[in-house]
Amino acid sequence: MEKINNYILIGNPVSHSLSPKIHNQFFKENNIKAFYETKCIEKLDKSIIENFYNNKILGINVTLPYKQDIMEFVYKIDEDAKNINAINTLLYTDKGYIAYNTDIDGIKISLLENKIDIKNKNALVLGAGGSGYTASYLLVKEGANVILSNRTYAKAIGLKAHIKDILGKDIFIEDIKDINKLKNIDLVINTTSVGFYSNSEKEILKQEFFNNNNNCFVMDIIYNPKITPLLALAKKNGIKCTNGFSMLVYQALKAQEIWQNINIPLDYKIDFKNKLYKIIE
Ligand code: ATR
Repeated sequence: MEKINNYILIGNPVSHSLSPKIHNQFFKENNIKAFYETKCIEKLDKSIIENFYNNKILGINVTLPYKQDIMEFVYKIDEDAKNINAINTLLYTDKGYIAYNTDIDGIKISLLENKIDIKNKNALVLGAGGSGYTASYLLVKEGANVILSNRTYAKAIGLKAHIKDILGKDIFIEDIKDINKLKNIDLVINTTSVGFYSNSEKEILKQEFFNNNNNCFVMDIIYNPKITPLLALAKKNGIKCTNGFSMLVYQALKAQEIWQNINIPLDYKIDFKNKLYKIIE
């Protein structure tokens, strides 16, 4: 019989994921007798999840393309995960799997690490894909004024309507052609794929933006390359910034908090992330 491990990542593709390195390092450091591995799933269905449950897989991470589809196979969904309509973590319980979204915490802890206040700040979110939803939801929930911009305007409208529906708050939409003219921005989160190694020819914000906002903080959720054109330009302007590796590690540590039923101190999280930073090429 195939050996079933305790913790897995499901998705398609999963072979390039850094999650096994992160979680197995955490198990090792904390003497937790467990192992984390990836499982590429061709087509998700109920029997696959039942099989994991019957084999007592204690924790599952879920990645693309199953972050929504997984919802119909779980016992309960955490409120934040339900609100952003995306799941990335399952916890085994006596009654079935409970589903969470720890990407929200990934962004939150990255900002906390950099001592970035969210409340009442003007936050520019670039992109209205899955990560744009997550970032906008967190920022609005924590009291920021969110300005959203997306290449496809209709998707920004959809996100605005969704946020209004679930949180009762308005976000503002800026045409992507005009983002460099914005002023008084405290925080930028780039959730688009502009800057990713296969889409890296340009930076999504230009010098004009940094002339107008020379005291903002920039987070790019991309970590491959480590320094995207956007981050390079921000650094050139002396702007404090971070790439997406922190978010990746912090969402994983939040999953561990859920799986192990523990609280991991912020200092440990930061040290752990800094130690792991060398794993990205
Ligand atoms: P994720 O789930 O990680 O957010 P996604 O849903 O594929 O990924 O979203 C990718 C985002 O990058 C979208 O906001 C996309 O804009 P569109 O909605 O117009 O497609 C944005 N994006 C990708 N390439 C872009 C480009 N060259 N210029 C501007 N935005 C781009």
